[in-house]
Amino acid sequence: SETVTRDDDGVLTVGGIDVKRLAEEYGTPAYVLDEDDFRSRARAWRTAFGDNADVFYAGKAFLSRAVVRWLNEEGLNLDVCSGGELATALSAGMPAERIAFHGNNKSVAEIRRAVEAGVGRIVLDSFQEIVRVAHIARELGTRQRVQIRITVGVEAHTHEFIATAHEDQKFGIPLAGGQAAEAVRRALQLDSLELIGIHSHIGSQIFDMSGFEVAAHRVVGLLKDIRDEHGVELPEIDLGGGLGIAYTSDDDPREPHEIAKALTEIVTRECEAAKLRTPRISVEPGRAIVGPTAFTLYEVGTVKPLDGLRTYVSVDGGMSDNIRTALYDAEYSVSLVSRSSDAEPMLARVVGKHCESGDIVVKDAFLPGDLAPGDLIAVPATGAYCRSMASNYNHVLRPPVVAVKDGQARVIVRRETEEDLLRLDVG
Ligand code: LLP
Repeated sequence: SETVTRDDDGVLTVGGIDVKRLAEEYGTPAYVLDEDDFRSRARAWRTAFGDNADVFYAGKAFLSRAVVRWLNEEGLNLDVCSGGELATALSAGMPAERIAFHGNNKSVAEIRRAVEAGVGRIVLDSFQEIVRVAHIARELGTRQRVQIRITVGVEAHTHEFIATAHEDQKFGIPLAGGQAAEAVRRALQLDSLELIGIHSHIGSQIFDMSGFEVAAHRVVGLLKDIRDEHGVELPEIDLGGGLGIAYTSDDDPREPHEIAKALTEIVTRECEAAKLRTPRISVEPGRAIVGPTAFTLYEVGTVKPLDGLRTYVSVDGGMSDNIRTALYDAEYSVSLVSRSSDAEPMLARVVGKHCESGDIVVKDAFLPGDLAPGDLIAVPATGAYCRSMASNYNHVLRPPVVAVKDGQARVIVRRETEEDLLRLDVG
């Protein structure tokens, strides 16, 4: 981000605070999040679409009460996908009508709570859920705004585990075979549901806009079929999230305004061709807002050179604070941030402290050959899906999230303690 610099001794400074001070005050590992960067990315997304669209930040990427307040202040909406995320959002004052509730297996209790709270939309994910939500809304004497999530049959070019638009998977209702049209038919018949639109999310960490183009084309095709069959033009479409960010210098992400322009053009063009009123668009970026805003600060422990292979650099965290390398073969970069070094670079692998050989944070990296225990290293772009997917494996304590801004640091999620761990242990 813009506020990251190096001082004369090579010490990294972010938001006006140097990492040695952060490590002293808050310990390591720690996620260090640049609040100004977060806010400016959130704002860039909101302003990119002007008033023609709604931006729902995907809370699964990283959610805390501070984040909810920032989003609220910046005029973004929020996508939640569990009762826990919903509770966090509501407790931090996000107005319920600006919350969208997702998930392929929302429980009856979760649905009831969302309807009672008055969430702006529930994204229906199956035939059973159409009936379930309708029933609960009727019981509560209300009419719930809903979207139907469909799978458009696009192969997104990303890791299999994070691609979500092909049909053979658990999310959504397939467009194929008239299933989505049938879902719409049923939803329109139920008085306690107000069907406001169609939803499609094709996957994550996507750079190529062509998948979104195909998705938009097919969603608009469905809107047209709905108009022809029922005489109603649904007012909204949601194209999901999934926009890629730069994890390493090989990635070349697109800016929000380019994405907004491309999506708006596709939808407008498709609607004109189908003689439909252009629906209001919504998007759900998670990673693209929070991913680049944080890095993980680790202290180097054991440094183990293996002759002819590489040097294993162990840090004080690992797969418990970043599971993405083990899970998706994700690529990250890493640098020495507590000093400068003129030493020859060495081929390194940054690994954690867990009892597992797959506990790798950065698979291949060049680090200075004089790297030593006590040095601080930073892994950038860990704002999304690292703290939110963190675990207590090996009873390692989950790191804090420290927000920095204007020379001030503030803990927004504190470090876990042994008491936290033991609190759940009964007997
Ligand atoms: N909307 C829906 C319906 C989603 O399922 C997701 C992500 C998003 C929005 C936000 O996607 P984003 O813009 O953050 O890519 N844990 C994985 C990614 C799984 C994401 C699941 N859904 C990872 O670490 O890459």
